[in-house]
Parts: sequence; structure tokens; C-alpha cells
Amino acid sequence: MNSRLFSAAARTTRAFAAAAASKSINVLPEARSVAGAVATSCRGRFSSLAALGSYGEHQNAYRQWISGALMLPAAVYMLQDPPAQAAELERTFIAIKPDGVQRGLISEIVSRFERKGYKLVAIKLVVPSKDFAEKHYYDLKERPFFNGLCEFLSSGPVLAMVWEGEGVIKYGRKLIGATDPQKSEPGTIRGDLAIIVGRNIIHGSDGPETAKDEINLWFKPEELINYTHNSEKWLYGK
Ligand code: RTP
Ligand code: MG
Repeated sequence: MNSRLFSAAARTTRAFAAAAASKSINVLPEARSVAGAVATSCRGRFSSLAALGSYGEHQNAYRQWISGALMLPAAVYMLQDPPAQAAELERTFIAIKPDGVQRGLISEIVSRFERKGYKLVAIKLVVPSKDFAEKHYYDLKERPFFNGLCEFLSSGPVLAMVWEGEGVIKYGRKLIGATDPQKSEPGTIRGDLAIIVGRNIIHGSDGPETAKDEINLWFKPEELINYTHNSEKWLYGK
């Protein structure tokens, strides 16, 4: 029994050392489960192993096992998942307006953000009320087109989304293109897919503060999904 326990403890220690040396997180789940198994097997058996320790032929193995066992709590502690990353990647609010939805451009627009490498963290189809549209475009309330704009935004389904990634607020606006599609560069969403300013198919937050306010306006915190995308290590090289 003690030799099985000892080799399990030794495997744990080796896996831990390998993980520490390579900084690879892939070995951690294995190491963690071995550590857990050893800890479980040890429970209630320490006294019988201690008794074994009094026999000369077992003393060496016992001493080694003890040192392995003492390292376990430290190893298990250090093998815990690191705390969730404090610095969250930038997020922006993007909406496909009723004209974009009705023209069947949802997949085209979503795919441009997706192919760029941004991560979708929230999405829903909603018909906003006019009051809600006025809250969204509050900063434009003095503009002559404000009423028509809010009427239009609340006239049908809007696809509300939150996209995440380094620099997504500013670069998302580049992907979208200038407000007036007549001035949007070809290759941008508005440049390729829209013609007039009043039907420019998509909205994007214009800065960090606006992004935060718009995400809070359109989404509840629990609707935002935190997850690691498989492509992240290829996109960011880490
Ligand atoms: P958005 O907020 O929708 O992403 O557009 P934006 O930042 O590029 O432009 P913004 O100045 O915030 O204008 C909001 C929306 O109002 C409509 N608009 N109409 N008739 C006009 O001259 C005029 N100017 C702006 C557009 O639909 C614009 O997207
Ligand atoms: Mg705007």
C-alpha cells in the first residue's frame, strides 16, 4: 500500500515540478487529480503507515513517503486554478438596426466581427420601445433627426450584441465605417452594404464610456458570458 501511495505522491510531485518548469497549464488537471487521489487514499491510513515506519526495511520508503505527503498540501495549493484574470478584455456594444435585420444581413455582419477574431459575449433579438431608443440615442436629443431616428430604431427587431477583444471599440468602428455610407470606405460594413445615412444598418459604441453605458442599458450582467474561445491563443499568441 505504502509503495503505491509513494509512487502516486512522487507522480504528483513530478507533474507539479514539470508544470512549474514549463509553465504549462495542460499538465495541471492531471497533477491535480493525482494529488486529489493521493489525498483521498491517505485519509485514515496515516497511523498504519506510521506503524510501518518502525520497521527497518520500510524506514526509507516511509521517510520518502512522509516528505512526499508533507509536500502535498503545498503542491495541491499551488496547483489550484489561478484567480480569474482581473483585467477583462475590452467590450463594445454593436447593434444591427431594423434595416439590417430586415435585409437579411445578420450573418454577413456577425461574420465580419467573428472573422476578425472578436469574441461574441452576448446576443439577443429585441424590439426596443421608443422610450428605450431615446435612452440609447440620448446624446443626440437636440439633433433634428432625433425623433425619426428613435422611431426607426423602435420600428422592428434589432440584433443587440456585445463583442470582446483588444481594441474592439475603436476597430469595431473601423469595420463599421463612416456614419454616412456615401462616405464609408469600400470594405467597411456601411461602405459595402448601405447607401443612405438614415438606413446605415448598424450601430457601434463610439468610446469606452459609451460602450459601458450601452452594454448596461441593453444587457443584464448575467446575459454577458465569460468564456475562453479556442482561437484566443492563436489570435493573441498566449
Ligand atoms: P451609430 O451611433 O448609429 O453607430 O452611428 P454613428 O455613431 O456613426 O453616428 P451618430 O452621430 O451617433 O448618429 C446616430 C445615427 O443617427 C443617424 N443620423 N442621421 N440625417 C442625418 O443627418 C443623420 N445623422 C446621423 C444615423 O443612422 C446614425 O447612425
Ligand atoms: Mg453614435
